[in-house]
Amino acid sequence: MVRGTTSVVGVFGWPVRHSASPAMHNAAFADLGLDWVYVPFAVAPKSVGQALEGVRALNIVGVNVTVPLKERVLPYLDSCSESARAIGSVNTIVHREGRLHGESTDGPGFLAALHHAGLPVRPQTRAVVLGAGGSARAVIRALLEAGAHVIVANRTPNRAADLVRAVTDGLPDPHIDLTALEEPALRNALENADLLVNTTSVGMAPHTEEVLPVPATLPGRLLVVDLIYNPIETRLLRQARESGCRTQNGIEMLVRQGAISFRHWTGREPSIDRMREAVEAVLAGS
Ligand code: ATR
Repeated sequence: MVRGTTSVVGVFGWPVRHSASPAMHNAAFADLGLDWVYVPFAVAPKSVGQALEGVRALNIVGVNVTVPLKERVLPYLDSCSESARAIGSVNTIVHREGRLHGESTDGPGFLAALHHAGLPVRPQTRAVVLGAGGSARAVIRALLEAGAHVIVANRTPNRAADLVRAVTDGLPDPHIDLTALEEPALRNALENADLLVNTTSVGMAPHTEEVLPVPATLPGRLLVVDLIYNPIETRLLRQARESGCRTQNGIEMLVRQGAISFRHWTGREPSIDRMREAVEAVLAGS
């Protein structure tokens, strides 16, 4: 029940109606018996500055920021983490005494999801990442911070080159290479890899039959992660499963980034299981 004492957090998105975050966070609040509520806010891109003034004026404790606002909030913040600045994207804002601080929990959430899948990233870890958009930046920055070797393949090579410049900013010795988004190049790159990550929208509903030029049979030692969660099993993940690979869809990263935001705001440890169940219920109903 919402009362006079209830602390308010939420999510800014445009649109925001399909977000699973309200269900996920409210489930975690209920589980811990916290007097908090998580509210969806439809914020038009042109109104981001005013909406953030609103966070201050209304004493909202914090917000998540989702598509297409993650890049747009940066100029309005008082401070932000070095990683968020490097990737140019913020998904979590913490409001304390009138000051707004930005974080990106996508990258740390991705690493936590890999850990859950049995791949704690180490300096020896070799990853191939498909795509060079916003999610690729978060994923690659996190992999590089953990010391992994990363090979990036993107349809538009220039965009990948821009990504490399941005995500390596301030890192002492980043291990990152580019390759072509073509089957022979990917076959080669995957030969010694531990991890393959799809950050592109290829295979996402409603275009579930679109495919990336990955080899039909993948090395069985790979963990294959697709950040897509609609469908729950993309063609890439099916191909990976049929090749004997371990697979993970985007639900776990969604839950883990949410759990890290939750900790930033509340200082409490949420139930990952309750959060995952809530996300799965939303996706099953959509
Ligand atoms: P997000 O924030 O989800 O990462 P984005 O920033 O729009 O979204 O990035 C989308 C990514 O999917 C890009 O890497 C894009 O490749 P380009 O940089 O060449 O545009 C990739 N992508 C989208 N459709 C694709 C397709 N049909 N084939 C290959 N890559 C595709």
